[in-house]
Amino acid sequence: MKCRKCGRPAVVNMRQHKLALCEEHYPEWFIAQTQRAIEKYHMFGPEERVLVAVSGGKDSLALWDVLLELGYRADGLYIDLGIGDYSAASRAKVERFASRRPEARFIVVDIAAEYGETLPQVARRVRRGRGKPCSVCGLIKRHVMNRITRDEGYDVLATGHNLDDEVAVLFGNVLHWQTGYIARQAPVLPAAGAGLARKVKPFCRLYERETAAYALLTGIDYIYDECPHAVGATSIRYKGLLNQMEERSPGTKLQFYLGFLRVRKEGFFRPAAETVELHPCPNCGQLTSAPGLCAFCRLWQRHD
Ligand code: AMP
Ligand code: FES
Ligand code: ZN
Ligand code: ZN
Repeated sequence: MKCRKCGRPAVVNMRQHKLALCEEHYPEWFIAQTQRAIEKYHMFGPEERVLVAVSGGKDSLALWDVLLELGYRADGLYIDLGIGDYSAASRAKVERFASRRPEARFIVVDIAAEYGETLPQVARRVRRGRGKPCSVCGLIKRHVMNRITRDEGYDVLATGHNLDDEVAVLFGNVLHWQTGYIARQAPVLPAAGAGLARKVKPFCRLYERETAAYALLTGIDYIYDECPHAVGATSIRYKGLLNQMEERSPGTKLQFYLGFLRVRKEGFFRPAAETVELHPCPNCGQLTSAPGLCAFCRLWQRHD
């Protein structure tokens, strides 16, 4: 297999694009694809300040790297949830990456230091989500990402979600016909008033395999392990099924996702009518539909 650009031996073969590239031209292609998505979906401009949520995994570190390569004003945010060795190891990867990019600011929010308990501790106490701490984790991450984006004056928050992530979520929502969620799934979630930051996913059209290849070829050191709580998650099962389909017909995932974005744009899925009033939480100021404190602030109040 030869590189389409220069004819030297290719290191990445993308059957879904009928494209093979060498170690020099693959990262170039990957960076250009990211820039195209940023422009196509009007994610942000060169003057805007971007906060990249970095987990220590390949996708979010690759995203931070690519945005800096493209010359964007991109800083990093790591949320330390205190999940034993997993958090310690992932934090070390992000710190290492940040130390090599002194031009970018790096923010760490340590949940235990700031709120008094680690994620496993608070999840055990409130027992949400049928024993798995993932729903509490999601709530904490969303809240903290939004708070830092808003308080530190960033224009937009970027996450490392890739095509495989987006397709697995879409597949799950279609299986259960969650039309309200389907309508809200998009490469860009616009800001809502002063309280909710704009959120973007610049890798939403790039396969997980492609982000992994970029990280590998550019020498980004990332954590391979998934969070220990993710074991057995339905999204991982869906990814397995989708990979089987992709194996048989390369391009299935991309077609499914791009087709979805097309019909979504045509107004096929309507968001559920917003019957609930949102108001700022009296404690933290983030918008909530709850009558009093928001769900995040309630987490730290309940000691039952
Ligand atoms: P996940 O929900 O683990 O699939 O992660 C999705 C995206 O959320 C990642 O690509 C990151 O952008 C972001 N993210 C996940 N965990 C963290 C974390 N601990 N700190 C900051 N960002 C995170
Ligand atoms: Fe949140 Fe695993 S990363 S529960
Ligand atoms: Zn080449
Ligand atoms: Zn609150």
